[in-house]
Amino acid sequence: MKEWYDAIKEAQNVEKLEEIRISVFGKKGVLAQEFAKMKSAPNEQKAQIAKDLNTHKSALMNELTAKKITLQTLELQVAMKAESIDVSLFSSKSQAGALHPVMETMDKIVEYFSAMNFSVKTGNMVEDDFNNFEALNLPKYHPARDMQDTFYFKDEMLLRTHTSPVQIRTMMHTKPPIRMIAPGAVFRRDYDLTHTPMFHQVEGLLVDEEGKVSFANLKYILEDFLKYMFGDIEVRFRPSFFPFTEPSAEVDISCVFCKGDGCRVCSKTGWLEVLGCGIVDPNVFEAVKYKNVSGYAFGLGVERFAMLIHQIGDLRSLFEGDIKLLEQFQ
Ligand code: PHE
Repeated sequence: MKEWYDAIKEAQNVEKLEEIRISVFGKKGVLAQEFAKMKSAPNEQKAQIAKDLNTHKSALMNELTAKKITLQTLELQVAMKAESIDVSLFSSKSQAGALHPVMETMDKIVEYFSAMNFSVKTGNMVEDDFNNFEALNLPKYHPARDMQDTFYFKDEMLLRTHTSPVQIRTMMHTKPPIRMIAPGAVFRRDYDLTHTPMFHQVEGLLVDEEGKVSFANLKYILEDFLKYMFGDIEVRFRPSFFPFTEPSAEVDISCVFCKGDGCRVCSKTGWLEVLGCGIVDPNVFEAVKYKNVSGYAFGLGVERFAMLIHQIGDLRSLFEGDIKLLEQFQ
């Protein structure tokens, strides 16, 4: 038996130790053989032989276990030394991530209005007819409700076509005054160079006592905002129509490409349309049961802003996840 104690002592690695274990404790191992031999020994010696064998059995097992722990610890130390990494080394290529141009533009818009004390509200992308249309003075059979424009679900539910329902929901459960913007994704059945089925809007709403909110207030803040976004540009307001505002206007900026001289992008007009706005229609206040108030509202497409700021030609490229395009905005 002594040779097995020596073998355990001399084993250099866990594999060798395992071989020894099988040779000693295996089915056909040394111990099994010794116990087998015991059967043919004289009866009066059997008890002593069995006792000796059992002593060896537990002693050898203890040796094996202890040695195994020693070897494993050693092997771990060797492995840790070999695999150590120098965390202070520079990697050959690391690339910083960046915000998507749409999100970056959205953040900048939100930043402006937050600084002007507008609170930021978000709502549901799946909306009902009342909040998306009815309360916004878009009665049934209004052309803007055309199936071409809106994604409908069952039971008069739909994907919001603008973030105006967030304003309605806010007014329904908040007393005036209100000073809010609603940024978020909106959905329309459109797909071409300048339209995608999903895009982002930021809409704004300000409500205060009757007579306190004027078109001049609206004009001032939008001009200031557009100069913050586009720098040194001219701003003009053109009369327009929206069901939820009266009077309404569309807002143009002087073309950021040709500085107003007239080019392909502005169709030789020198102007680019960037915003819709107006004084909130009394029918909207009636729908949310507001009395003796006045207010203004505006809405814009974030992708359009991002395209003009970064001079991107095709709106769809913003949603293709093309790494080559995105890398340009790092
Ligand atoms: N809700 C309008 C849209 O989706 C934008 C808008 C908001 C226009 C408020 C005027 C006033 O196009």
